This record gives sequence, structure tokens and C-alpha cells, in this order.
Amino acid sequence: THNVTKAYRGEILHFVADPAKVAEEASYQYFEDGLLVIKDGLVDAVGNASDLLASLPDTIDVSRYENGLIMPGFIDTHVHYPQTEMIASYGEQLLEWLENYTFPEEKQFADIEHGKRVAEFFLTQLLDAGTTTALVFGTVHKESVDAFFTIAQQKKLRMICGKVLMNQNCPDDLKDTTESGYADSKALIEKWHNTDRLQYAVTPRFAPTCSTEQLNKAGELLKEYPDVYLHTHLSENKNEIAWVSELFPDSDGYLDVYDKSSLLGRRSVFAHGVHLHDHECQRLSDTNSAVAFCPTSNLFLGSGCFNLQQAEAFDVNVGLGTDIGAGTSFSMLTTLNEGYKTQQLRGNKLSPFKSFYLATLGGAIALDLEGTIGNFVKGAEADFIVLDYNATPLMAKRIARCKNLTEKLFVLSMLGDDRHVKATHIMGEKI
Ligand code: GUN
Ligand code: ZN
Repeated sequence: THNVTKAYRGEILHFVADPAKVAEEASYQYFEDGLLVIKDGLVDAVGNASDLLASLPDTIDVSRYENGLIMPGFIDTHVHYPQTEMIASYGEQLLEWLENYTFPEEKQFADIEHGKRVAEFFLTQLLDAGTTTALVFGTVHKESVDAFFTIAQQKKLRMICGKVLMNQNCPDDLKDTTESGYADSKALIEKWHNTDRLQYAVTPRFAPTCSTEQLNKAGELLKEYPDVYLHTHLSENKNEIAWVSELFPDSDGYLDVYDKSSLLGRRSVFAHGVHLHDHECQRLSDTNSAVAFCPTSNLFLGSGCFNLQQAEAFDVNVGLGTDIGAGTSFSMLTTLNEGYKTQQLRGNKLSPFKSFYLATLGGAIALDLEGTIGNFVKGAEADFIVLDYNATPLMAKRIARCKNLTEKLFVLSMLGDDRHVKATHIMGEKI
């Protein structure tokens, strides 16, 4: 397929800036009859079909997508593949949920074959939901990451994953040590980081399960490999936050535990941040760190409603996460639905443009992958999806009433789910 140029014609939307930072109309490009031109799996051009077709050879292969919206693939900035099969576990908030359901589930990932089976199912679910890149937790077992990357590589996906570091406050058979966690992470980085489209994230589970020595070693890995990610949890639940202040009495709050180990930076992603102080948002912003907003999880575990307005006020990078298996859906559309409702509960409006920005370009920026994924700038990897206005009778009826793009996006985000993802393309190829 080298040098083959292919084009997709239909309604096209992508973002070029944060709608909260520029005039809304300047944040996106929208082509009612658009053309997305792809060369060698990368975006070559996007624009009005009539303009672009005039300049292209008439031998070009054009496919049409009607009654739908072509947009960049969704980006999930926080998810646990090993928790796929324990989704919807009843009745607990974070710390009891981890004890009762999560830790037992994760023990199974010592077996690489189990990991591969779950990774295959997980990635199929993600792609069916229109998510083409994710920042993914493994388990403490290095085999869990070998399994995940093996399957992601077969599918030619851009994926980021890491082995969990946890050496305290968890079951003995899920503990690593400061030294083994460091050595296993290093070996996985050498084996997988920047192999094809795969990237590694140093992944301390969260402060309570890591000794200060282990967090410091994680910081050392980031110094040795400056372009790997840091992925962890932060300020999700009130009892968790109280526990962190008992465990780390010398720290000035939860974020400071990570900061003291040099874990903040442009490629650091902190999941949740539901209960952040202004000074913590300032520090996240100053270090260009990102927060993953995980509304279905925050509601499911009763953690609280993320303060998006506060994050915007401090100019903190924010992406969206499903946080499966505490989250309750693989669908970024469903995630937007619940995200909107969390902001309603705070008395704020999450606009449809901001929503779809967060699900695409905002996620790419959170992952320091702007220009590579998340929109259709020239040279970006052509991972894109087609949302189907007619997938369900209710969607078709409601979309027919919409007067403009804003209304259509809002309706898609309220009524949409994986049924409304008509096609997913990876590096241009429909899968
Ligand atoms: N904090 C530490 N581990 C986890 C986890 O697996 N899920 C969530 N939601 N929060 C965590
Ligand atoms: Zn999580």
C-alpha cells in the first residue's frame, strides 16, 4: 500500500485548538461535504471536497461516508485493561473496591496467556467504541505488559502501557520490590518503548501502594528515559487522600508526594484529580502535567465531580478517561454524556465543542502527541472514525431536528455509544 493515496468523502470535523482558549469557531474545522486525503497511512490533506478533488488526479480512490460524521479516533487517557472483566462490581468506593474486587482480579495476570486473551478482547472493545489510542495500566506482572503490547502491535495501534509498581499496602502476591519494579520496568522500556507505535509509561499504582524509595526509583527511570510517560492516580477519593497524608506526613499534600520524587512533567498523566487544591493545579500547570477526567468512574465509585472549571482556570492539560473497570463504559460518547452531567451537578456547562475536543485533540495534547494523533493536520497518523447518525431510530429522529453542528454534537454525546461508531480506521485502513 505504499504511496497509495486514498480519500474519504463526507461530513468532517476536527479540532485545531481548545474551544475554551480561542473563539469557539476558531477551535475546529468543519466541512459539510469534506474530503480526507490519506497517503501512506498519514493525513495528506483535509478540506472541502470540491476544492480538493479539483487538485487531485481523477484516478484517486474515493470512498463515501453518508449520514455520519468523520472525526479523529477517540483518545482514552486512563484505562486498566486487566479490569475489563470485572467491570460493574457492586457497592464499594475506591479503597474497598480495590481490596474486594480489583486486587483478586489482577492476580490472574501472572499468566501471559490470560493477559493476551484479555488484551485481545479489551482492544476489540476499544476499537468498536471508536477509541484508537489509550494510556493503559497493566498489572504488577511484567507479563501483563508483554501480553498487551504483543496484541496492540499486531493491530498496528498507537498504545501506551506500563507495568504497575506497587510494593506495599496490597496483597503479598501482588507486590514487587523497589529493585524488581525498577529492573522489570527498565527491561520493558528497552523492549517496547518506541517500537512501532508503542510507548511505555512508568506506572506507580498510587502513592499508598508505593514506598518513597519506589517512587524515587520511578523518578530515576524518568531521568534515564526522558520520553517515557508517568502514569498514576491522584486525589480520587476523600478516604484515599486522608490515607496519603497519614502515610506521607512530610509531604505538603497528595501531589507533593509525587513531586518530591520528580514525577511531574510534560509526559506525566494523573488520573482523576477530583479533589485538587488550587496550589496543586498551579503546580500541574507549571510542570505541563496532565489530568485524566474519568466521569463514569468518578460517579460509579462515588468519588465526586471533577472540577473542569478549576483545571481550565489554571490551564492544566486535561484528557478524558474511561477508567475501566471502575468506569462503566468503553464508549467515549457515553463518557461525554456522564461528563456533561458531572458538570451540571457543579452548576457548569460542558459545551459540545469542548466535549469532542477533550475526546480527540485534548487527549492528544494531554499525551504530548499533538501533530501525531487527535486531529487531521498534515502528517498526522490517519486513525479516524465515522459516527453514524442513523444507527438507532431515536438518534436518527433527534438528529433530524438539529439546526446546526452544535446541536448535532450535543445529541451525539447524549444518545451515542458504540452502536453509533460505523467504522474505525487505523493508519487509514478500515478494520
Ligand atoms: N487507585 C489505585 N488503583 C486504582 C484503580 O485500579 N482504579 C482506580 N479508579 N483508582 C485507583
Ligand atoms: Zn484508574
